[in-house]
Amino acid sequence: MLDPLSVKNSGYITLKKVRDERDGNLVIAEAMKDIPFEIKRVYFINQLENSVSIRGQHAHHELEQVIFCISGSFVLGLDDGVNKQRIIMNKDNVGVILGKKLWHTMEEFSSGCVLLVFASDYYNESDYIRDYAEFQKVIGKNS
Ligand code: TYD
Repeated sequence: MLDPLSVKNSGYITLKKVRDERDGNLVIAEAMKDIPFEIKRVYFINQLENSVSIRGQHAHHELEQVIFCISGSFVLGLDDGVNKQRIIMNKDNVGVILGKKLWHTMEEFSSGCVLLVFASDYYNESDYIRDYAEFQKVIGKNS
């Protein structure tokens, strides 16, 4: 049972998982079918050796992403400026949409944790909102 998502611009994505009879799992993501945009960039984060580090801590003006934890677990923090929630990410085929203007953090990484992210656009630092006060201003203006 997945915790209901109360924040705006988010949602779960459950990918098809094939438990291969030979060995292992096969998990599939197709653009515009499973992932609700054309994928222009994929990145992964691994070697998370400092379990007290906090990644993310930003929102994006326009970028949309879907984040998965394909090994281990971590805690995803979501904040749309009104509602905040914490999601335990520990299912390799269940991702969370990080929509526009959704402040997010990643923390409490287990050992061997690997994050995989699909993004709707190329890397562009000017799309980041890294300052929480600026985020609140942007939300106030646009919603
Ligand atoms: P950042 O997005 O802040 O990481 P996180 O959200 O996981 O904390 O990115 C960390 C650094 O990596 C930053 O200097 C920008 C760089 N980077 C790229 O060059 N290209 C990318 O696609 C991403 C995601 C980050």
